Amino acid sequence: MITAVVGIQFGDEGKGKIVDFLSGRFHFVVRFNGGRNAGHTVVVGQEKYKFHLVPAGGLRTKNIVLANGMVIDPIALVDEIRAVQRVNPDLKIHISNKAHVVTELHRAIDRKEEELRGASKIGTTSQGIGPTYEDKYSRNGIRIEDLSSRSAIKEKLLAIRRMKGELLKSYSDADIERIGESLYNSGKSLEKYVEPTDRLLNLAWSQKKDILFEGANGALLDIDFGLFPYVTSSNTVAGFISCGAGLSFRKVDTVIGVMKGYVSKVGAGPFPTELSGSLADKLREAGHEYGTTTGRPRRVGWLDLPALRYSIRVSDIDLLAVTNLDTLGLMDKISLGEAYVNRKTGEEITDPDAAHMKRIEDYDVKYRELKSWGEIDNSLRKEIVENGLEAMPSELKEYLKMIEMETGRKVGIISFGNRREYTIITDSLKLPESR
Ligand code: GDP
Ligand code: IMO
Ligand code: MG
Repeated sequence: MITAVVGIQFGDEGKGKIVDFLSGRFHFVVRFNGGRNAGHTVVVGQEKYKFHLVPAGGLRTKNIVLANGMVIDPIALVDEIRAVQRVNPDLKIHISNKAHVVTELHRAIDRKEEELRGASKIGTTSQGIGPTYEDKYSRNGIRIEDLSSRSAIKEKLLAIRRMKGELLKSYSDADIERIGESLYNSGKSLEKYVEPTDRLLNLAWSQKKDILFEGANGALLDIDFGLFPYVTSSNTVAGFISCGAGLSFRKVDTVIGVMKGYVSKVGAGPFPTELSGSLADKLREAGHEYGTTTGRPRRVGWLDLPALRYSIRVSDIDLLAVTNLDTLGLMDKISLGEAYVNRKTGEEITDPDAAHMKRIEDYDVKYRELKSWGEIDNSLRKEIVENGLEAMPSELKEYLKMIEMETGRKVGIISFGNRREYTIITDSLKLPESR
């Protein structure tokens, strides 16, 4: 069975938690886009694991794949691999020879470009993501397969410095030498994991192995479909699996879209249902909404049904995973955006394009108010785990039903606490047998 888990808001929907929950049933867990901009959190007992490059499925699966669509900082990866191997010593690691390499130069350009953008800053994670994808598409990038040659690394670093002129003028020949050496050394440590992972995944598919794809970022951050330019530099929609991992989209059986019961966002750009003031503070504190990668306070807002419909369309979502429902229950009243209303014409948009969200100043968001279901404490959590949906407060069941009705998609996974066990699946979700 081939299953994909992707974000359908602005990232940080809880993909890491959902992937970890499912991953014990799959032979392979695969990241196919992004790099260290991703921060995927998994909480097991008292332990909190934060994944940036290694798939969050690495705690429980047998094989992880860092596929060609990723941009990988190999020096950071060496440390991350060490950390996951301490927990899962038998884990096999497969890194695509075709993935692109993030270097100190790319991080420096990322920071410099942000500085030069001035007021139109994107609020990137400063992890060199954009500049590395730029070098990929301009065909100047360094690939994982280049790390085996000192001279190839240094030639490419020099070419990048030459082309980026002003942006890298503070990098001396000695710096290039130093960066090249550390990349080469990290390449030596990773060498044993490098292979054509596209071939591996196609072989696994033909042997009927179960593969779980772990998306990074979210549909509204997609380079094509997101709220450009406030996006990341890769595609984030499920269709990118074809290019980012080399396994055709036609082989993916189920695409699960992960969403919070509300919306959070880090970085700049339009956010139709954003809250401000004390309501925002309350929701942010209730959900501990601070970035996993950067520690930045996240912007927060009510669930945005029009945006959700758009993401479901562009990522072709089959089923929903709804997280952080315990957090939302801590609000006294719950609202959700159900349409964008044009201020001049009064036209109601319920099935928007990204362009509507980008021009949200032309629209009022029409809200619906709902009753809160209150706190979900640990004893209620246990009851829900034991007895399923039936043990949930009726207002919460109504909320989930309403999401299903408004989006035309069933809820397959429900999450009501950050710990692994505070998750239930519904009959709508078909999974491989437990291993
Ligand atoms: P990702 O990038 O999509 O993997 O999400 P992040 O890990 O960046 O952010 C999601 C945050 O919400 C993390 O701190 C998770 O531990 C937390 N989380 C996930 N699901 C739930 C949930 O159902 N309830 C609560 N309270 N926290 C959750
Ligand atoms: P996960 O996988 C939340 C946002 C950044 C910024 C924009 C561009 O944890 O959900 P970049 O560094 O990619 O060039 O930044 O995209 N962004 C994310 N926001 N979660 C993420 O990943 C993100 N990855 C990128 O905040 O606004
Ligand atoms: Mg995250």
